[in-house]
Amino acid sequence: MVIRPDLHENNRLSWNAATVAHNRHKPDQAGFLRGGGSTLFPEEIGLLGAVQGKAVLHLLCNSGQDTLSIAALGAEVTGVDISDEAIDFAQRLSAESGIAGTFERSDVYPWLEKAASDGRRFDTVFCSYGALCWLSDLGTFLRGVAGVLKTGGRFVCMEFHPFAMIFDEQGAPKYRWHLRSPSAILTPATNSSAVWATSSAR
Ligand SMILES: C[S@@+](CC[C@H](N)C(=O)[O-])C[C@H]1O[C@@H](n2cnc3c(N)ncnc32)[C@H](O)[C@@H]1O
Repeated sequence: MVIRPDLHENNRLSWNAATVAHNRHKPDQAGFLRGGGSTLFPEEIGLLGAVQGKAVLHLLCNSGQDTLSIAALGAEVTGVDISDEAIDFAQRLSAESGIAGTFERSDVYPWLEKAASDGRRFDTVFCSYGALCWLSDLGTFLRGVAGVLKTGGRFVCMEFHPFAMIFDEQGAPKYRWHLRSPSAILTPATNSSAVWATSSAR
C-alpha cells in the first residue's frame, strides 16, 4: 500500500468542518470532564488497563474528549490529530477542564516517523472508533505505532466492525450495493423500505 497525503489533506479539511459541527451541539464538555465525567466505554478502560503514571499516546484523537478522560485516570497523555479545529478544541478543553494533556496537530504518518527518530516512547498507544478507516496504509501505520512503543508496551485499538456500516438504524441495508447500475453505487438509500422492495423484486 501507499501513503496518500493528498487524501489526508482532503480529510483534514472535511474533519475541520465536521469537528465544528459535532462540538456545536455538545454543551459544556469542560464542565462534564471537570465534574468527573468520562467519554470512555467500560471495555476501553478495561483494555487500557492501569494507566496511572503511564505515558499514553492517543492517535487520531479528534477533539480530545477521550484523551482527557484517559488523563483523568492518571495518565500523562499526548493526542495527535490532523484536524486544526480538533486540536484547537482539545487544547481549549484541556485548559477549561483543568485536565493536563499535550495535543499536537499533524498527519499521523510523519508524526510517528519523527517521534520515533526523536526517541519518544510511550507505554500505551490508543486509537478508537472511526480511526482506521482514514488511514491509507495500515502496515506503515502499525510499524509507526511499534516504533514509539516502549518494550512491552501496549497498543489498544477499539473499532467499529465494518459490517455494521452496511445497515441503517432500522437494520435495513443503507447503500444500494445490490443494484447493478454504476450510478446507484454509493448512493445512500433514503428510504429503507424502498430498498427492500427493489431488492426482493430482483
Ligand atoms: C472519528 S474521529 C476519531 C474520534 C476518536 N475516536 C475520539 O477519540 O474522539 C477520526 C479522526 O481522525 C483524524 N484523522 C484522519 N486522518 C488522519 C491522519 N492521516 N492523521 C491524523 N489524524 C487523522 C480526523 O481528523 C478525526 O479527528
